[in-house]
Amino acid sequence: MAVRLRGCLCLITGASSGIGRAMALRFAEEGADLVLTARREEALREVADAARQRAPGSRIFVLPADLRQPEAIEHLACWVHESAGAVDVLVNNAGIGYFAPASQIELERIEELWHVNVRAPILLTRAILPSMIQRQRGTLLYVASLAGKYGVKGGSVYAATKFALRGFAESLFQEVRQYNIRVIVLCPGSTATAFSGPMASGPGRERILQAEDVAEVAVQAVLLPPTATVSEIELRPTNPQ
Ligand SMILES: NC(=O)c1ccc[n+]([C@@H]2O[C@H](COP(=O)([O-])OP(=O)(O)OC[C@H]3O[C@@H](n4cnc5c(N)ncnc54)[C@H](OP(=O)(O)O)[C@@H]3O)[C@@H](O)[C@H]2O)c1
Repeated sequence: MAVRLRGCLCLITGASSGIGRAMALRFAEEGADLVLTARREEALREVADAARQRAPGSRIFVLPADLRQPEAIEHLACWVHESAGAVDVLVNNAGIGYFAPASQIELERIEELWHVNVRAPILLTRAILPSMIQRQRGTLLYVASLAGKYGVKGGSVYAATKFALRGFAESLFQEVRQYNIRVIVLCPGSTATAFSGPMASGPGRERILQAEDVAEVAVQAVLLPPTATVSEIELRPTNPQ
């Protein structure tokens, strides 16, 4: 297989499982250098080992961080800059989902959803962007959701975070395209990961999207010539019933 991302440094959040893990492995197949982050260090190390098998010669770093903490995000960005170098592709993938009617969802849950799904990608973007602007290149990829485009019964707060993330990314693209920086928003439908709970382990599991499907689309979007930006992708399972 052709190795098309050799020398390209990709920082992937939420790389310890699901879509982020699949992206790490797929980017590794393309020869990318990787910085993998999430809270669970052991899981990250397992992903890093699997990625190394697919990408001998690539530089693969692991840095655990809790993205609820602004200081941890600042530390992550500084560490990457000093230890790994300038980021070419930032994948803001980490996210959480709590589903409850709006009348019942607790304040703590609302805050956590907001901090992980919206504030963290904004802060990490803010920290990484100056070096992309300076180098006049880079790709910012945001994993939103179809729930960020179409409301979901019982998932109003989760949907609000993903609508917000799309709003941020769409506006950001207007700001940064003048520096040759691409902004891609990926909106997957139901994907078989821990996030989707029983659906991911039940009989319909093979009919919904697989984490590898989402990773493939992300890599293909990144591999386009730098002059071309797929600004938003809606990705659906073909036949989920
Ligand atoms: N699965 C679906 O049906 C679906 C559909 C549309 C969109 N999405 C989006 O896809 C993204 C990835 O989700 P997934 O399906 O792959 O679920 P997942 O397997 O649960 O992955 C979520 C990732 O986010 C990380 N994370 C959660 N809280 C964090 C925190 N406070 N600090 C740092 N990292 C944190 C987790 O790592 P640690 O636990 O190790 O911290 C994990 O790596 C999310 O943004 C989700 O909203 C999922």
